[in-house]
Amino acid sequence: MIQEFFQFISTRPALSYARKRGYLFEAIAMDARHKRCFTQWQTHYLKCQQAILKAVDACLQKNTIVIMGAGSLNDIPLDSLSRQFQKVVLVDLVFLKQARKKAADYTNVFLEEADVSNRLSNLFEGTLAFKADASWSLPQETDCLVSLNLVTQLPLIPVRWLMQHHGLNESEAGKLGKEMVKSHLNLMESFQGVRCLIADRQIFEYDATGELIDQFDPAWDVLLPDVIDSWQWQVIPPGESKQKTVQINQVGVSIW
Ligand SMILES: C[S@@+](CC[C@H](N)C(=O)[O-])C[C@H]1O[C@@H](n2cnc3c(N)ncnc32)[C@H](O)[C@@H]1O
Repeated sequence: MIQEFFQFISTRPALSYARKRGYLFEAIAMDARHKRCFTQWQTHYLKCQQAILKAVDACLQKNTIVIMGAGSLNDIPLDSLSRQFQKVVLVDLVFLKQARKKAADYTNVFLEEADVSNRLSNLFEGTLAFKADASWSLPQETDCLVSLNLVTQLPLIPVRWLMQHHGLNESEAGKLGKEMVKSHLNLMESFQGVRCLIADRQIFEYDATGELIDQFDPAWDVLLPDVIDSWQWQVIPPGESKQKTVQINQVGVSIW
């Protein structure tokens, strides 16, 4: 707890809302949960790394790879990417000290703190109508674009904040969630190189007796591209939650 507090006060993300609106808090909580649930999370991270390498194998040129939602970098095969590409660009709203240290071991790995939805600064001002701030764009000569455990997360914090502070109702929340997922997919579709989408496809929640109590599509019912590989990630293993529930995410990979 103390370590997490120090992590919070000593990390200064470039985008002020990353701290104010809870992205930094979430990054620290994820880091702590990874430590507590190392075995279950590491299996998932290794599978993500393998999926990224599979996408890389399909690249005809290897100038630049861009990974959106890089976060902890734990699910990224950095050594191999750094060797194969001239430039590795890792994008997220927040990078903790540990991720910065890892990236600093490579001269061709660059961390970019940016909002890949290009909408957050407007949304956090309460502007709901689609108005892109377009501050982030793909680097030139990108050959491979990866969306890493990100697409289903994109709407979560802004939607929750708008519901709490701007009276967004459920139907408006659903509309905004879908819009954000779709526009991320459009970004990937409009890219000409190799695209790799790693994302939760279904979420299952079980009670202490092992009975399924909830199941839902985390992509806000937006159809994602076909899956070529899939696995179960025990995000909340037994013993982790105070309510004694267990959460398993079905993760899927699309490469096209
Ligand atoms: C589920 S986490 C996955 C992070 C990383 N792949 C990992 O497992 O450590 C989702 C990540 O997406 C980032 N994120 C959420 N919305 C974003 C946005 N609009 N632009 C860039 N990154 C965003 C969060 O900061 C978080 O690091």
